[in-house]
Amino acid sequence: MLAACLVASPALARRPAEAAPKPPTNDDCLACHGDPSATAADGRSIAVLPDKFAASIHGQSGVACVDCHADLATVTEFPHAEKVAPVACATCHPEAAAQYDVSVHAASRRKSPNSVAAACKDCHGTHGILPASNPNSPTNHFNLPATCGRCHGNADIIRRGHIAVGNVVTAFQDSIHGWALAKSGLMVAPDCTDCHHAHDIRRKSDPQSSVYRTTIPATCGKCHEGVERRYLTGIHGEALSKGNPDAPVCVTCHTAHRIQRAEGPAWKTQVLAECGSCHPESIRTYHDTFHGQETQLGFMRVATCADCHGAHDIFPPRDPRSTVSTTRVVSTCRKCHPGATASFARYDPHADKNNRQRDPLLFYAAKFMEALLIGVFAFFGIHTVLWASRAVKPGHPMSGPDGGPRSQE
Ligand code: HEC
Ligand code: HEC
Ligand code: HEC
Ligand code: HEC
Ligand code: HEC
Ligand code: HEC
Ligand code: HEC
Ligand code: HEC
Ligand code: HEC
Ligand code: HEC
Ligand code: HEC
Repeated sequence: MLAACLVASPALARRPAEAAPKPPTNDDCLACHGDPSATAADGRSIAVLPDKFAASIHGQSGVACVDCHADLATVTEFPHAEKVAPVACATCHPEAAAQYDVSVHAASRRKSPNSVAAACKDCHGTHGILPASNPNSPTNHFNLPATCGRCHGNADIIRRGHIAVGNVVTAFQDSIHGWALAKSGLMVAPDCTDCHHAHDIRRKSDPQSSVYRTTIPATCGKCHEGVERRYLTGIHGEALSKGNPDAPVCVTCHTAHRIQRAEGPAWKTQVLAECGSCHPESIRTYHDTFHGQETQLGFMRVATCADCHGAHDIFPPRDPRSTVSTTRVVSTCRKCHPGATASFARYDPHADKNNRQRDPLLFYAAKFMEALLIGVFAFFGIHTVLWASRAVKPGHPMSGPDGGPRSQE
């Protein structure tokens, strides 16, 4: 195989043996490697398609084979050694390499030689590298879900790489963002790297990560700036900036990869449960009210938490900016009850019949109703017992001849 290549290499044959050693040219290398069927001893393809290389950014910029395969730059005789050193992209791209170095992918590769985490060539390729602006580049905006998806959507790599979150790619593709990217073709829809960065991808537990809990509002806010601003002024944003570990961030309510359009019964039911998971008292009392009972039945036109409190700029009721503060509550009810008055709005959507302090009237009314109910049952219970004992007495007009109840024939 090597001999055949040597013979077939006019470029090598033409070189005068006594000239000063010049690095081999691309043609020298392609004389053997340009053959699409070239294989190594172990059967691997070692072909480099000349047209593909020529069209790549490196081919276009005059980067030679031996600029990347630097250990072969001094080779004067072929065949060259079988072992060829790995290519160091970092020599020409120190900035990208430095960013990559701090990533979870680089750390994983440093830790283990068998790591399946992404290296430069996994995202960029080798001989056909194109700038991200090229629609055929694997790093192009519209191709990135598939590029990351080769691993993050691949069950085998997920298992071998111990990627706890699992397959996020199918979730992303079904999300509003994935849809906007793949189907609507929106330049402004996020790909994986808009939220995770391209090179310095870090774990969510890393405080420097773009998806670290307290950084998430800013990451989403790159595009949803108005929402971020409202969120940050509200009680949840305020609690987050004060370091409250229970404060919800964007993905608590929207998820990270399954984001849906914020409308419709399924979404509303889901976010309602989410509010309830942190405000168990409020959802309990809500379910006791008319609105809550209707939503349990699936009628989502009645008020959910966000219809009364807002979604992002939520404030405590005592804050005048709150949609349920005494100054604003009437107009909030009027969104759906056009005739609502101040006295209508006094109806407490979180009325709690067990809480004397909050709702004394309701508390005593409920206690009265309970007492009445018990009284009524007790009265009729005793009455029935007395009546029954009379009824089974022999000789009574309501009993049969054997002392049992009279038969009905
Ligand atoms: C005479 C033919 C020939 C020429 C010329 C040649 N190579 Fe090779 N090259 C081979 C063969 C054969 C192998 C496979 C060795 C083996 O079996 O592992 C190889 C292996 C390689 C490998 C390693 C492949 C791998 O994955 O193990 C690289 C990289 C490489 N060549 C680059 C070059 C470059 C760059 C040039 C030009 C400087 C060049 N070669 C010139 C025949 C040639
Ligand atoms: C931009 C840098 C770059 C340039 C330029 C380049 N290569 Fe490579 N080449 C790589 C990388 C990266 C690999 C994968 C192996 C590694 O990581 O070292 C590779 C692998 C190879 C292999 C092994 C088979 C394979 O495809 O994995 C051969 C053979 C090879 N190169 C030949 C060439 C030849 C011939 C040229 C010039 C026409 C060339 N290379 C130009 C970066 C480059
Ligand atoms: C010998 C120097 C050299 C090496 C080694 C090298 N490159 Fe390049 N690379 C260049 C040059 C020159 C350009 C074109 C000028 C530019 O846009 O920066 C370029 C451009 C690129 C681009 C497009 C940049 C853009 O503006 O979009 C990417 C991506 C890239 N290289 C990736 C790699 C990867 C991955 C490797 C390793 C496999 C690598 N390069 C190895 C010199 C090199
Ligand atoms: C996880 C995938 C991934 C890995 C791994 C990766 N890149 Fe990139 N790279 C990208 C994406 C995506 C872009 C386009 C980003 C953009 O345009 O903002 C990019 C852009 C680039 C660019 C051009 C823009 C720039 O930042 O200068 C260069 C050069 C580059 N990468 C080199 C490298 C090198 C060198 C390595 C390895 C040290 C590497 N990349 C590893 C995904 C990756
Ligand atoms: C070649 C396969 C491969 C590609 C391509 C790849 N990754 Fe990864 N990625 C991994 C592996 C393996 C890990 C697990 C590393 C570890 O924990 O040791 C990982 C880890 C991660 C993590 C941290 C996950 C965790 O469990 O802590 C994030 C986030 C991530 N990748 C995002 C991306 C994004 C975004 C892209 C595309 C721009 C991408 N990856 C491309 C293989 C890949
Ligand atoms: C809209 C922003 C956004 C997009 C787009 C996005 N992610 Fe994420 N991703 C996040 C956030 C935020 C988290 C952290 C979730 C959390 O805190 O539970 C995350 C978590 C992850 C994790 C787990 C990280 C860890 O440390 O456990 C992986 C892996 C991941 N994303 C990969 C991807 C891939 C691959 C894509 C593209 C298909 C993608 N993501 C698209 C925002 C995004
Ligand atoms: C406490 C839960 C919660 C948090 C935290 C949250 N959202 Fe929302 N979001 C909602 C609800 C509920 C809606 C639906 C609002 C409606 O029905 O009017 C919504 C709606 C949206 C919409 C659609 C536009 C709209 O206002 O109807 C976008 C975009 C959005 N959220 C983005 C974000 C971003 C970005 C963040 C973080 C800065 C965030 N959300 C934080 C619950 C939340
Ligand atoms: C790169 C820009 C970008 C980033 C970053 C981004 N989004 Fe979006 N998002 C969009 C675009 C564009 C749409 C609208 C898609 C459409 O309407 O077809 C959208 C839609 C949404 C919707 C649905 C809005 C509706 O009308 O119901 C929600 C909710 C949402 N995003 C939440 C988030 C969250 C949460 C994050 C952060 C984890 C985030 N987005 C990050 C661009 C972005
Ligand atoms: C991840 C937990 C979490 C989720 C989910 C959540 N909240 Fe909160 N909520 C908090 C925390 C923490 C505070 C701030 C408590 C404090 O600082 O006093 C708060 C405060 C509030 C307050 C002000 C209470 C007061 O009187 O001070 C209201 C109203 C509120 N949330 C409504 C909602 C609504 C409506 C939703 C759903 C759209 C929701 N919350 C989802 C954790 C959460
Ligand atoms: C019909 C409108 C309406 C709905 C629906 C509603 N609330 Fe309220 N909420 C109010 C009003 C009005 C107040 C102020 C009542 C008060 O303080 O007496 C309030 C108060 C609160 C408070 C402050 C603490 C308290 O109990 O006074 C929290 C927290 C709260 N609501 C959470 C929720 C959650 C979570 C949901 C959904 C499960 C929800 N609310 C549904 C109108 C509503
Ligand atoms: C998102 C719409 C919406 C909002 C906002 C809303 N409601 Fe309702 N509410 C409904 C619907 C729909 C019904 C069922 C009406 C029917 O079937 O006649 C209802 C029923 C009621 C009922 C019981 C039925 C009745 O008409 O007597 C009361 C009481 C009530 N709402 C009070 C309030 C109060 C107080 C507020 C403001 C704090 C409020 N609602 C805000 C949609 C809403």
